[in-house]
Amino acid sequence: MEKIIIFDTTLRDGEQAPGASMNSFQKMEIASQLEKLGVDIIEAGFPIASPDDFTAVSVIAKNAKNSGVCALARCISKDIESAGRAVKKARRPRIHLFLATSKIHLKYKFKKAEDEIVAIAQSSIRQAKKFCDDIEFSPEDATRTEKDFLFRMVEMAINEGARTINIPDTVGYSYPQEIFTLITDIKNNVPNINKAVIAIHCHNDLGLATANSLSAVLAGARQVHCTINGIGERAGNASLEEIVMAMKTRHDVFGNFNTNIRTREIYPTSRMVSKVTGFVVPPNKAIVGRNAFAHESGIHQDAILKKRITYEIMDPRDVGISESALVLGKHSGRHALDQRLKVLGFHLGEDRLNKTFQRFKELADKKKNIFDDDLISIVEDETKVVKPVWIFDSFEITSGTKISPVACVSLKYKNKIISAKSSGDGPVDACFKAIDKATGVKGQLQDYRIEAVTKGKDALGEVSLKLKAKERVVTARGSSTDIIEASIRAYINALNKIESL
Ligand code: KIV
Ligand code: ZN
Repeated sequence: MEKIIIFDTTLRDGEQAPGASMNSFQKMEIASQLEKLGVDIIEAGFPIASPDDFTAVSVIAKNAKNSGVCALARCISKDIESAGRAVKKARRPRIHLFLATSKIHLKYKFKKAEDEIVAIAQSSIRQAKKFCDDIEFSPEDATRTEKDFLFRMVEMAINEGARTINIPDTVGYSYPQEIFTLITDIKNNVPNINKAVIAIHCHNDLGLATANSLSAVLAGARQVHCTINGIGERAGNASLEEIVMAMKTRHDVFGNFNTNIRTREIYPTSRMVSKVTGFVVPPNKAIVGRNAFAHESGIHQDAILKKRITYEIMDPRDVGISESALVLGKHSGRHALDQRLKVLGFHLGEDRLNKTFQRFKELADKKKNIFDDDLISIVEDETKVVKPVWIFDSFEITSGTKISPVACVSLKYKNKIISAKSSGDGPVDACFKAIDKATGVKGQLQDYRIEAVTKGKDALGEVSLKLKAKERVVTARGSSTDIIEASIRAYINALNKIESL
């Protein structure tokens, strides 16, 4: 079994995501969760960048119990000094030096020749070595660097004592096969490569960061740079959760490798990073997105209930998510609805379930997500013991600021549709008067309340009312996403109750 070192750069490259900057307290909170997660090395920051980042790296270095703590530095003397001082108190300190090596960067960023770049990197590694033994060197933009020059830089860095050589795909330009060839070429062309660990650092500009990182592992990289939720500069970095879970899930391919990650801490860590940075995790984000273990289609839900592995390649509990969610929506089937209702305590017979399912489908056409409260409302509404005399069919209404409302309500009565029209003081009043006309029962409204029982702009409204008719007083409720319809349903429920007494 070979170990893949997980180098987490959430607090450094992750923080470079526009808008994700964290203060030293927030960084400390995340660092202690990263230790719980089991990352081998925490790249805690870029100490020269700001006094607060220096503090964050220093405090994390001092407090880390198990993870190594790394600080980033350019090949500039003051950076190295700052990084060296910041990680001084760590049990396992590391300085990560980087210097661009591609022609594009040499020509436009540095305006320097290759020999000058080699000399700068050489003296920087020497300086960094005075602060700690564990030096990681990154030839920035390695994937766009001329190979011969890259080999030369890597050989020199190892000769100077760098223990880890990181190969950054700085602009996320590479693709898996190319990365595989590059790592293989480095192994075959750098004579002292066996004295260092090869690391990979991929950006996600083309959505290939995870694939490229895994390809590097297959070619011989033994350290992977990654971030929680894949946050990082521009489109982000390879995400830790994807790399770790891909290796765990595809045991057939990655069976020779293991990591120290406690996968059950993945989800709590993801939530913490999202909360602290304010970066919302997209619902479809692999492993940690809200929908990663959620199933809406009836076919999928039915199969999942029979055997989870039909549509799930991972057990959600392995990443710290308690259970898969069967999200009820318009594609869901009777089986999933019944299952959910049972969880909510409703054991409906065939008949009541059929009715509830019909209402559920009607609601699902109007509403994206059906929440538990929606279901409770429907069940309560649909499974009244009262045998209805009148059944709601449809309504039409004209209303506005300059016209008085006129409603036409149709009801089913003894298998026939009866309709009546009426105006009123408001749209609800017009509907109630129309129902009175249609049923021939004069109702007296004693109380009327409306509230949203679910959240969102497509919330389900519930109307509760008290009605007096035929010398009897009853209370009744009705629900719908349309408050007029909810009112009509409540009124008709009340009339049916009165008839049944
Ligand atoms: O993307 C990159 O090249 C980096 C370096 C600092 C390693 O983040
Ligand atoms: Zn980067």
